[in-house]
Amino acid sequence: MVRKFVYGKPLETEAVLTAFEECEEELPFLLYEKHSEVSPDTDSFSLPTELGFSEKNPLFTYSMKPDDIIYGLGEAVRGINKRGWRYISFCADDPDHTESKFSLYGAHNFLMILGEVSFGLFFDFPGAVLFDIGASDYDRLFIRPSGNDLTVYVIERESPLEIVREFRNMTGRSYLPPRWAFGFQQSRWGYQSADDVRQIVQEYRNNHIPLDSVYLDIDYMTNYKDFTIDKHKFPAFPSFVTEMKKDHIRLVPIIDAGVKIEDGYDVYEEGIAGNYFCKRKDGSDFVAGVWPGITHFPDFLNKDARKWFGGLYARLLSKGIEGFWNDMNEPAIFYSEEGVKNAWDRLSAFDETSLDVEGFFQLTGIFTQLSSQPADYARFYHRVGRKNIRHDKVHNLYGYNMTRAASEAFDRYSPKKRILLFSRSSYIGMHRYGGIWTGDNHSWWSHLLLNIKMMPSLNMCGFLYSGADIGGFGSDTTQDLLLRWLAFGLFTPLMRNHSAIGTRNQECFRFGHIESFRNLINLRYRLLPFLYSEFMKAALTDSMYFRTLLFDYPQDSHAIHVEDQLLLGDSLMLAPVYEQNAVGRYVYLPEDMLLLRFLAPASSIPEGENSLSLQDGAVISTKYCTAGHHYLPVALDEVIVFLRKGHLLLLCAPAEAEELLNTEELDLVAVLDDAKQARGSFYVDDGFCKDPNLEENLVQIQLESAADGSVFVHAGNTCTYHEHVFSL
Ligand code: GLC
Repeated sequence: MVRKFVYGKPLETEAVLTAFEECEEELPFLLYEKHSEVSPDTDSFSLPTELGFSEKNPLFTYSMKPDDIIYGLGEAVRGINKRGWRYISFCADDPDHTESKFSLYGAHNFLMILGEVSFGLFFDFPGAVLFDIGASDYDRLFIRPSGNDLTVYVIERESPLEIVREFRNMTGRSYLPPRWAFGFQQSRWGYQSADDVRQIVQEYRNNHIPLDSVYLDIDYMTNYKDFTIDKHKFPAFPSFVTEMKKDHIRLVPIIDAGVKIEDGYDVYEEGIAGNYFCKRKDGSDFVAGVWPGITHFPDFLNKDARKWFGGLYARLLSKGIEGFWNDMNEPAIFYSEEGVKNAWDRLSAFDETSLDVEGFFQLTGIFTQLSSQPADYARFYHRVGRKNIRHDKVHNLYGYNMTRAASEAFDRYSPKKRILLFSRSSYIGMHRYGGIWTGDNHSWWSHLLLNIKMMPSLNMCGFLYSGADIGGFGSDTTQDLLLRWLAFGLFTPLMRNHSAIGTRNQECFRFGHIESFRNLINLRYRLLPFLYSEFMKAALTDSMYFRTLLFDYPQDSHAIHVEDQLLLGDSLMLAPVYEQNAVGRYVYLPEDMLLLRFLAPASSIPEGENSLSLQDGAVISTKYCTAGHHYLPVALDEVIVFLRKGHLLLLCAPAEAEELLNTEELDLVAVLDDAKQARGSFYVDDGFCKDPNLEENLVQIQLESAADGSVFVHAGNTCTYHEHVFSL
């Protein structure tokens, strides 16, 4: 059951597609106060008034039971259970994702309260929202929007997964990427020319490390101008795209939100002529400094501007490009003209002769605190219908609508073929138009763990095609960190190695032990048809690709608190290693499972484990593990996964690119359940079609053991299966 509660006159965010009747009764579960003059959080946390929060805004309070677990909020710092910290939904360009932060790039206002009483909540509000989840008071959940007009949805269903499904059903089907986007992708800010890109591809190919795409960061443009290509660095771009495609590589260019102000630059001039840019209060176009220098921001909340900007992607589509990443769309503001002027004014008012310590900090802060300032977000306006709306009131819808602009254009220009698209900033609803990557992380072990923890939370909110910058964006990576990160990243739908200019190069061929890197990326390709199938099933049934153990083992008092093991689809449990110097890890098994160890190159089967030979001659190691706690050694370049009883896993022989995989001949590893059966389904399509039919594309596979021990495989397609059947 979903109940909708409307307060004031909310702006239509188009996050929810289902038309629910407004509920007249009182809001269940939560205490609603129209105003709360006394801020509940004054004791420990101050109200961030600079973001528009006031005690005059409504306050929603819930008394949490000691055992309540709070899931949700998508892209956020800290644990999967959000309890114990405070979060602010206000899309932020912040490259330091430390535990002390309140906001990251996305605003995902969906929560699940799971305990004796369980329900889901969605706060559909486009401005800043504060979620104090047991930070001020461990037993209380406080939610305060920074305005009075909002819609609250309360979702009650019989299980956590059903709550997620209901939420996803009302917000619409998740974005579907093309299948090639499940290949391994290499990116770096700093590939300066076509020759740089050729060299990267050559190194991957020479070292036989599979690769499907290379990203073009802002360096491919002329002076960072959107929809331009630097002709000196990337001459004859369309033939370069074709040359790469012949080598099974797709190029994925970046598009930034800000449009450079430059006479003669057609995008800028079209934007001015069409009146498509965000305005100041006095009607002039707002000016912000971002990568290209001074820019205007397209007004993505205005549908005409959206159509215009979306149409510009056709310039690259027509050159053979099939994928894009949308960046800087919170929007990031390095500085505004007003902000800089204020800073100079403050500086000139400074009396250096009487500088004291307090003055020193004020002085140094004048120029270090110019970026992405709340004051700047209050300086420009959007045209929505016939109204002008101040940006900060609808801040969280900006990146969402930039990505929507692109996606709607793809429907016009590429009606039959899926285009890869993901964004840095997002709001619920954007998951229909594109995926996300989790922005500028660092080459830190803690960010590998954060990547693991964020994935199920993002899935709850509909962001299935997602991933982090593998190896870390900022700071210098190390070989051990990159190997461990790849060992987890090879399960994330978006598997992209990306790093910042000036940091250590981190392509897989840069390190010793090339065979270890090759082995890990090969494993991604072995798994690719299976992972794609699990992804598509999750997307087409509003389900989750990554889940915590709580979803499947709600009665297991230990499993419900596990945050560093994930279920992937119906068959697998992952237990990634994420600590420096670890040579293995503890794993909790809620039931008996089969350990599959994808061995490091040239290593032998560990004692007590058994060998399993795959069709292409590769050998993996297996072990029957009983329910409970285990310590398992995991070498630096090994991957362990667990196959659940009654389920199956499909593997194919690796190839150097997705389109070269032979998906007609598969290894089928199955674990029979107590009834001596295993079943699963395998989703297969052409990898491009925009509106796939789940029923038609789903192959059912069933294994049954006869009295004499022989096993029959019934599969609804003509693939050749090499079976490896285990009975626990
Ligand atoms: C931003 C993006 C990053 C990109 C850089 C340069 O920091 O998050 O991925 O490499 O800008 O375009």
